[in-house]
Amino acid sequence: MRESELTILKIGGSVITDKSKELQVRMQAINRLAEEIQRATVESLIIVHGGGSFGHPLAQRYAIVEGFKEETQKIGFSETHHVMTVLNGLFMDALIWRNIPAVSITPSSCIITKNGRIQYFEDAPLKMMLKMGFLPVLYGDAVLDSSLGFAILSGDQLVSVLATKLNAERVIIGVDVDGLYNDDPKVKKSAKMFKHLTLEELWELQGKVSMSAASDVTGGMFGKMAELSKVVEQEIPVAIVNASKPNYIYKALKREKVKSTLIEKE
Ligand code: IPE
Repeated sequence: MRESELTILKIGGSVITDKSKELQVRMQAINRLAEEIQRATVESLIIVHGGGSFGHPLAQRYAIVEGFKEETQKIGFSETHHVMTVLNGLFMDALIWRNIPAVSITPSSCIITKNGRIQYFEDAPLKMMLKMGFLPVLYGDAVLDSSLGFAILSGDQLVSVLATKLNAERVIIGVDVDGLYNDDPKVKKSAKMFKHLTLEELWELQGKVSMSAASDVTGGMFGKMAELSKVVEQEIPVAIVNASKPNYIYKALKREKVKSTLIEKE
């Protein structure tokens, strides 16, 4: 049984930052999304946002994903986490200025991973915030790892764990394309978008993509799918929606019809 109709909304890093330029925020997108979220007035909501050109370049430069190997990486861990707090602060500003009672939850302070997977999650404050009607906001972060020293926790893993743990009613994934395609729509005009996928169809697609050379271009999206298939398995539907286009996230939050890919168990 579900206590409340919880919605989990992920906003991809490519929507709120310009991935071609390091530390380049898309303030207009952040403000527009904050306005859409405010207008939609969803009762029970958690937001998770990605790192885009804030977290990713630094995490890569210091090989944070590979774990702690040398002292020089430590400052890289600090920097990666710090730039994520900066990006998060900009998002929080936009939400709070619109009178939304949003509260930031820092993943590195309440989560420890083991080999990159969440092992420990102190979620009591998050649960209490939800109960009190706050809007918790989390993000992909550099976190401590009980086996590797440290690791990168993706926003997608966070979404998957939160949705399962809290038995969410639905998950909305905001990306910078219209949905899930059979190829990279930014590269191939002929790429076909799926309006609806079952879990089985999703698995089939994943298999095909990992075998093909195209895994580089669509890998990001299909990597997400591996994480999200765990959500769909729990009978929680996942909608992939274009968060770069005005009103798409608003409509998805309001359960209005909007171009997207809906993934359901059956
Ligand atoms: C990445 O989070 C966070 C860091 C690199 C620190 P995500 O993996 O969720 O970010 P996007 O949405 O792909 O940019």
